Amino acid sequence: MLAPSAWVVRFATGIRKGGTVLDVAAGGGRHARYLRELGFRTVAVDIDVSRMNDLADDDGVELVAADLESGPWPFPERRFDGVVVTNYLHRPLLSMLAESLAPDGLLIYETFAEGNERYGRPSNPSFLLRDGELLEVFSELSVIDYEHGFEERPRPAVRQRICAKQSGTKPLTLALTLNAGAER
Ligand SMILES: C[S@@+](CC[C@H](N)C(=O)[O-])C[C@H]1O[C@@H](n2cnc3c(N)ncnc32)[C@H](O)[C@@H]1O
Repeated sequence: MLAPSAWVVRFATGIRKGGTVLDVAAGGGRHARYLRELGFRTVAVDIDVSRMNDLADDDGVELVAADLESGPWPFPERRFDGVVVTNYLHRPLLSMLAESLAPDGLLIYETFAEGNERYGRPSNPSFLLRDGELLEVFSELSVIDYEHGFEERPRPAVRQRICAKQSGTKPLTLALTLNAGAER
């Protein structure tokens, strides 16, 4: 099992203690598992939940098999203390992610960005964030941190990430970390 993303590790403890976290396109569940270890209840959704079957007996984990690109949003009435998305982008879903946050809920999002096509997959622009896109899409949230740039490890890639809070008010200060050495 892959280690959890350093970005998720960095911000997960900022989620309301004992809260419920939605892991979107959870894959093998590396973040669902990590969040469970931290004591959160976890809802893990993916089109294929078979790689998380071992979590099915955990009362604190809800596995939801759903096609997030063809079917309806599976959680129209639910709000989460945290929403985690890594290595997944389906633009029509982005507004649902913000709407799915409870008051003070934290969005932790990280995926590949434009420029990544130089280093490997994904290279299709549909799966690559544009410069500043997460800041723009989640402009109603209070941004805690944002990064966009090239990084050598764990493999050469261009990534964009945001951590932002549903605070109901705009932030007094904007903590913005831009990678000046970004290759585009
Ligand atoms: C690159 S993996 C990322 C997994 C996990 N977030 C991680 O970082 O370890 C992308 C995930 O998106 C899921 N996925 C792709 N299309 C989907 C869809 N239409 N609905 C739900 N999940 C989908 C795949 O099954 C896969 O688990």
